[in-house]
Amino acid sequence: MHRTHTCGELRLSDLGKTVTLSGWVQKSRDLGGMTFIDVRDRYGVTQLAFNVDDDQTLRAKALDLGREYVIKVTGTVIERSSKNNKIATGEIEIKVSELDILNASALPPFTIEDETDGGDDIRMKFRYLDLRRNPVRENLILRHKMSQEIRRYLDGENFLEVETPVLIKSTPEGARDFVVPSRMNPGEFYALPQSPQTFKQLLMVSGFDRYFQIVKCFRDEDLRADRQPEFTQIDCEMAFVEQEDILNMFEGLTKHLFKTVKGVDLGEVPRMTYDDAMRLYGSDKPDTRFGMQFVELNDVAKGHDFPVFEQAELVIGINAKNCASYTRKQLDALTDFVKRPQIGATGIVYARHNEDGSIKSSVDKFYDATTLDAWSKAFHSEPGDLLLIMAGPTDKVRKQLNELRLEVAGQLGLRDKNTFSPLWVIDFPLLEWDEESARYHAMHHPFTSPKPEDIHLLESNPGDVRANAYDLVINGVEVGGGSIRIHDRDLQSNMFKHLGFSPEEAQKQFGFLMEAFTYGAPPHGGLAFGLDRLVSIFAGLDSIRDVIAFPKNNSGRDVMIDAPSSIAPAQLKELTLEVKA
Ligand code: AMO
Repeated sequence: MHRTHTCGELRLSDLGKTVTLSGWVQKSRDLGGMTFIDVRDRYGVTQLAFNVDDDQTLRAKALDLGREYVIKVTGTVIERSSKNNKIATGEIEIKVSELDILNASALPPFTIEDETDGGDDIRMKFRYLDLRRNPVRENLILRHKMSQEIRRYLDGENFLEVETPVLIKSTPEGARDFVVPSRMNPGEFYALPQSPQTFKQLLMVSGFDRYFQIVKCFRDEDLRADRQPEFTQIDCEMAFVEQEDILNMFEGLTKHLFKTVKGVDLGEVPRMTYDDAMRLYGSDKPDTRFGMQFVELNDVAKGHDFPVFEQAELVIGINAKNCASYTRKQLDALTDFVKRPQIGATGIVYARHNEDGSIKSSVDKFYDATTLDAWSKAFHSEPGDLLLIMAGPTDKVRKQLNELRLEVAGQLGLRDKNTFSPLWVIDFPLLEWDEESARYHAMHHPFTSPKPEDIHLLESNPGDVRANAYDLVINGVEVGGGSIRIHDRDLQSNMFKHLGFSPEEAQKQFGFLMEAFTYGAPPHGGLAFGLDRLVSIFAGLDSIRDVIAFPKNNSGRDVMIDAPSSIAPAQLKELTLEVKA
């Protein structure tokens, strides 16, 4: 028998028991008369004790153990003389009578402790060792718990979990496809799903009524902290529903997860239109853990001969509460921040609301005290506040100010990981103009329904048509998104036309879906949550990498198995792919 108990299980109530434990050597300490070894498994750590007065061979064997050796010990549970209240087994130790080495271990390339000395690269290469560390393992346990609660909730609401294929035809979700050559169909390719979008809609046509799947999706896009080339969605679809039904159902799921997994009562999730989100935060995923909403200043900023403001389409700012004491150096650093090429602003105008009530701006030459007072009123500023103002083309300056707002909030500690601020962003535009291809793209995807009251604008003002589309945002992260779908063949075909598909192209790519719509498609809609993002928010992490067991690095590589990699010429030939010289 390998074990009677795990390494996290024994307590004072087990005193005197003879037990057998198996696990990895975490560390050993030799105190002359006593040798202590910590043995670890998934469940915890237990201290093993070897006394100088006992079996000398056994003690010598214990002294020879290296880090990460796999051992099995048998012994008696005894009370510790010096207790450790930091670990659950800290009141007991095992007086060992038998020690077996089950497997030796090479010296690990980094220390397997909560605080490790291993850098990112080495830990990714030896990911299976990194996964032995508590913080990483705990993230995966959290992920497991969340998946179980998701299944429990959705099962309780009558959703059926259905698997959809992974070798499919391209679904246009806006990213590039990963493709897989087909040996049996020379010159042809499958695409890996960017999401199961069309399949879940077909399941609604099939009458499944409520579908979900915790499913891998694949997108060949530039990677960021919250993006992986393969990631997991909680993908859902419902028939005979309106937007309101979907928002309620998945607000319910979100609350259920917060309650059961984190013990947090989320309360009602507020809603904001896309237009308001852009106007007040310059982002369709505003971080609402703190205020600092945008204040538009055209009325009080223009007409004073300050060329930067005169030429700008929009003058807009934020009130950084209690920041009037920011030094010149701090303000210069903020200016440098917005001037970085990623943000591309020309600068910041600032005004301090001094403790004596006076207001001093960086453009005092152009603005007298009365005008600055009007600024203060617009910002509802108080003594001690700092007003940060930017100007430029409307869309651009809003995005730039969004970056500044998040940066300042970060500096002020307003982005607390233990505060959770969810928000539904609704009424997204249906279409988005793309300068490069000089045509409209679907903002969500081509199957999203326009709002019925906006359909008449499709011909005249396509950019003004709003969609029955929504995102769930938590702490400034887009956690999920979905829409009410088109279920009418003619409207779907019209939509493809607006997206620049010829009737032939639309038929070739989506003929199967449009045909399905002719066989009694019910009204339907749904959404997908990004599971990795949701777990990382629960875990208080900025990156989704550490909630994924075997993630890719920023170049999309798995450095542990060394993928992607070249394949043998014979394999290429079989796939009728060109062999590189
Ligand atoms: P969407 O494209 O908005 O919608 O994706 C849904 C959610 O998936 C997560 N997500 C990602 N997570 C990690 N890495 C990525 N590369 C990545 N891309 C997306 C986000 C996002 O909100 N079929 C539609 C859903 C629907 O309409 O029902 C879809 O895929 O959290």
